[in-house]
Amino acid sequence: MSKLWGGRFTKETNKLVEEFTASISFDQKLAKEDIAGSMAHVQMLGECGIIPIEDAIKIKDGLLAIRKLVDAGEVEFLVEDEDIHMNIEKLLIEKIGPVGGKLHTGRSRNDQVATDMHLYLRTKTTELIKLIEDVQQALIEQAKANIHTLIPGYTHLQRAQPVSFAHHLMAYFWMFERDKERLMDSLKRINWLPLGSGALAGTTFPINRERVAELLGFETIYPNSMDAVSDRDFIVEFLSIGSIIMTHISRFSEELVIWSSQEFQFVELDDSFCTGSSIMPQKKNPDVPEVLRGKTGRTYGNLMGLLTVLKGLPLAYNKDLQEDKEGMFDTVETLEGSLKLLAPMVETMTINKDVMRKAINNDFSNATDIADYLVRKGLPFREAHEVIGKIVLYAIQSNKFLLDLSFEEYQGFSPLFEEDIYGVLAPEQVVAVRNSFGGTAPAQVEHQIVLAEGKLHR
Ligand code: ARG
Repeated sequence: MSKLWGGRFTKETNKLVEEFTASISFDQKLAKEDIAGSMAHVQMLGECGIIPIEDAIKIKDGLLAIRKLVDAGEVEFLVEDEDIHMNIEKLLIEKIGPVGGKLHTGRSRNDQVATDMHLYLRTKTTELIKLIEDVQQALIEQAKANIHTLIPGYTHLQRAQPVSFAHHLMAYFWMFERDKERLMDSLKRINWLPLGSGALAGTTFPINRERVAELLGFETIYPNSMDAVSDRDFIVEFLSIGSIIMTHISRFSEELVIWSSQEFQFVELDDSFCTGSSIMPQKKNPDVPEVLRGKTGRTYGNLMGLLTVLKGLPLAYNKDLQEDKEGMFDTVETLEGSLKLLAPMVETMTINKDVMRKAINNDFSNATDIADYLVRKGLPFREAHEVIGKIVLYAIQSNKFLLDLSFEEYQGFSPLFEEDIYGVLAPEQVVAVRNSFGGTAPAQVEHQIVLAEGKLHR
């Protein structure tokens, strides 16, 4: 059989053109969605009397048979048939004869491809939400085991104030929570049905778009056929949410790389999540977080790529739009792979509580607390800050930490110091007094974890 659109042509398509413009090498990933869309369309055509009901049934049966072959991996897709839509239509006609040619009544590949991608992203978005929840669950488990584990909290990567390690981990829980909300919200727009828009202007046949929406589970129908076939904002939105998710994953990965370095040794990633060096026998490399960090770049690229494809396109459909797919698949697959690895990596990592503790004991991250102490004794905060700055300088010069200074030394800096100063400097105390809502005190972290558990839909 020649091209489905061959009637108007007098020459064969140049082979290079055929290869260059074909999308079947990648859009075959939409086979299931394409068949699902066609089944709903043809059922509606039959119900509306646009084609005889017996023909609709024959076509549906044919599509079901093709679906089985696709599932079994027994279909050979052909470049000469350009894309998934024409490959399947041709297979159908081969299978059930000329009646298969009635499937495309009142439809165009333009509304068909947009529908396929809405269906695809709806499934993937729902699956990704579940994968995010697996990561959130792993974070909660580690957090629960580490409410009283203290770690230096950093700003500018300089020790700032000690925090509960659980608090640090839970920061990522909430980032992923917002990512999940973004994905859920995007489903509202993914659930608009393009099918029934025709090539750009609608169709002359008395179709029933509500029925197709109902059969395919769409909430709304695009009210404008030109918009329906030419915008890809639902994909841009997905790629943008995907980029935000990868940003969060990447920041966490960066921390895992730092924490597992010889210099920090705060955590040890499980052997099964690391690799070795081909030359240096002692190496245990954090490849997984590194690759996660690295893969973030391609998701930004996919977002920029599609925005750039769209920015100059006149309405309505243009073949440039075919470039919307590979980036979308790539971001979906990158997210799936990343989230699937992140959850078990967090679950299996060892937390070196002693090393973290040693770090806390040997720093000045309790300095703010002495400033607050003097403020409680009546000194204005700015003056207290100045006094403590001098104490810290003095301690550094005398090779001591704040808990090592004698009472006389404290008194030398301010007569407001009393014996109770040592009580406020203990790291547990420093953490426990940050008991404001959302703070790092154990009571707050416990409450936060309860809130977090309420967000999981398992
Ligand atoms: N493969 C095409 C795409 O992905 C399908 C739509 C083609 N439409 C057309 N009028 N050539 O965009």
